[in-house]
This record gives sequence, structure tokens and C-alpha cells, in this order.
Amino acid sequence: MSKKMQITLTVNGEAQDLLAEPRELLIHVLRERLNITGPHIGCETSHCGACTVTMDGKSVKSCTVFVAQANGASITTIEGISTPDSLHVLQNAFREHHGLQCGFCTPGMITRAIQLLEDNPNPTEEEVRFGMAGNLCRCTGYQNIVKSVLAAATEMSAAREAAE
Ligand code: FES
Ligand code: FES
Repeated sequence: MSKKMQITLTVNGEAQDLLAEPRELLIHVLRERLNITGPHIGCETSHCGACTVTMDGKSVKSCTVFVAQANGASITTIEGISTPDSLHVLQNAFREHHGLQCGFCTPGMITRAIQLLEDNPNPTEEEVRFGMAGNLCRCTGYQNIVKSVLAAATEMSAAREAAE
């Protein structure tokens, strides 16, 4: 067993201090130590994207991040993007355009889509498909996920223009 180290994380705006083995995976720390269960564990081999979170402004698959690598970082999970009274535009778009069925992939999908739209606010359908290629869904056939992301992009663009 390797020696534990002091880890400091900011998760959804809250400071968290804990002792952890450096090799522990961020997804395990989030789910099992901090009880933040929005990010899911699908494959644990970096293929499915169910564990996607935002770390210091970039989406990462938290099953491929050692907690030691996340030390000092700011992490946002699906729990941190909105409140129950005010959903994120992407959450509303997934609901309106049927971008989910069982919902297992959805926290990772939406977290990834937030990053995609930050990097490319007006993506084409092809760019959405490419940008979301690391997130797998066993239910939807992807059509409605792509539709949801494109709808959110249009709405976010319109809101930006209205604010200018
Ligand atoms: S659980 Fe992390 S990519 Fe599948
Ligand atoms: S909605 Fe079921 S895995 Fe995507």
C-alpha cells in the first residue's frame, strides 16, 4: 500500500481536504469519499465517458485521473452546473429533445458538451459528433443527443447576442 498524501480539491465550489493514496482515481474519490455520484463509472478504461467531469476548465475522464494529479484543482461535476430550480441550457435541451433514455451516460454527455460549446460555440453537426465521440450511449442512437447539443448551441448564441 502506498503512503497517503494530503489532497485539496475544490469540488463544485466547495473546498475538500482528504487523505488519499496518490494512485486513487478521481472518480472513486468523488463517488466514494465525497458522495458525489453524478459522474458514473461505466468502463473504467477511458472509453465510455460516463465519468466525465471538468477539471480546471477542461473536460476529463475522471477514471483516468489519479487523485494526486487533481491535487489543487477545481472540479465541476454535473451537480455543480445548475440548481434544481434553474437547469443549465444543455439540461433543458436534453430534456426537450429526448437526448436521454436511461440517463446513465447523461452527466458525462452534458459535462462534455459544456466544454465542446465553450471551445466552439457554433458547431456544425459533424463537429458535435466528432467532439462527443469519446462519450458512449447504449440507448439513444446519438441522433437526439446531437440534436440537443445543437439546440443548446443555438439558444446560447441567441442569449449572447441579446446580451451584447
Ligand atoms: S468510466 Fe471513465 S471513461 Fe468509462
Ligand atoms: S441514455 Fe442510456 S446510456 Fe445513454
